[in-house]
Amino acid sequence: RRSGFAAAALLLLVFTAGCGAAPQGAEVTGLPGFDGALPSKHYAGYVTVDEKHGRNLFYYAVESERDPAKDPVVLWLNGGPGCSSFDGFVYEHGPFNFESGGSVKSLPKLHLNPYSWSKVSTMIYLDSPAGVGLSYSNNVSDYETGDLKTAADSHTFLLKWFQLYPEFLSNPFYIAGESYAGVYVPTLSHEVVKGIQGGAKPTINFKGYMVGNGVCDTVFDGNALVPFAHGMGLISEEIYQQAFTTCDGNYWNASDGTCESALVKIDSLISELNIYDILEPCYHGRSIKEANPQNSKLPTSFKDLGTTNKPFPVRTRMLGRAWPLRAPVKAGRVPLWQEVASGVPCMFA
Ligand SMILES: *[C@@H]1O[C@H](CO)[C@@H](O)[C@H](O)[C@H]1NC(C)=O
Ligand SMILES: *[C@@H]1O[C@H](CO)[C@@H](O)[C@H](O)[C@H]1NC(C)=O
Repeated sequence: RRSGFAAAALLLLVFTAGCGAAPQGAEVTGLPGFDGALPSKHYAGYVTVDEKHGRNLFYYAVESERDPAKDPVVLWLNGGPGCSSFDGFVYEHGPFNFESGGSVKSLPKLHLNPYSWSKVSTMIYLDSPAGVGLSYSNNVSDYETGDLKTAADSHTFLLKWFQLYPEFLSNPFYIAGESYAGVYVPTLSHEVVKGIQGGAKPTINFKGYMVGNGVCDTVFDGNALVPFAHGMGLISEEIYQQAFTTCDGNYWNASDGTCESALVKIDSLISELNIYDILEPCYHGRSIKEANPQNSKLPTSFKDLGTTNKPFPVRTRMLGRAWPLRAPVKAGRVPLWQEVASGVPCMFA
């Protein structure tokens, strides 16, 4: 009996390790615009987080290209609120670089992204909450939502996802995101930890979370720009003092007229800078064809910053040599942003 039991257990293990347990029909075997074999398994589908309402969250999962049995599993959330996590998949760290198909109606060409996070971890891109991206509800009342409901739904999603893909349950699990995910990520992490402590099954092997340029707090975030601009030398001491005095150090909800005009002055001084990265130029549209650092509003002291001979594969120089959005990776010269970028926004709500 005992050996029969062990054999059965072994069989089960082999089955789990060899075949996985992904739901039928979930595997993505090809994408329009991409020729060739995918470097790892891709899955996509819906998880129902509320049967009664028919509330369904869409995910796209990319298995690690290294060692999927051991590598971390990372849930990725873009912010907004209201951004599809396909934003991260397409523009940031997904498995493909998208090359414009040329004409307006043509599909993009997909190239493998050598810097995809799926090189070392299994990535789950989740559209959250319902109403975002491909996630939806059959009851439109669900489109009025809030941070706590979003976190509870995403937690339900995770429990069900790991039931569908038990082969990933023992991997170290992380939650990551950016921008408004500064709210999504810790609130969801809190739900996950509460779930683990309360014995929710399956037990998620939660290891940590990570947030980039996160929204944290209205007052703290809203008051940060003026001291940042001052500290980075983007505005003069005089202009800073004027704002500080008239606004009494409170910039996010100015109601006083003199404070407001001091802030308008600061906004106009930094309006041509890329607020996501002040060392990068800001391109407002297709009309700008040539880089002209001389005309850039970047303070002169910044223009030489970041010049380096280090053989970074993508970024060889701070000014205008970051890997352009949507450009396929290929051998040879890295084009300037404005040669390929169209309408990269500098200000984004
Ligand atoms: C939608 O959900 C609300 C809130 O739970 C409920 O009152 C309403 O009856 C639901 N509508 C439908 C069509 O099921
Ligand atoms: C602005 O925010 C501060 C806290 O940072 C608060 O004390 C003040 O009442 C707020 N003013 C307005 C007009 O909302």
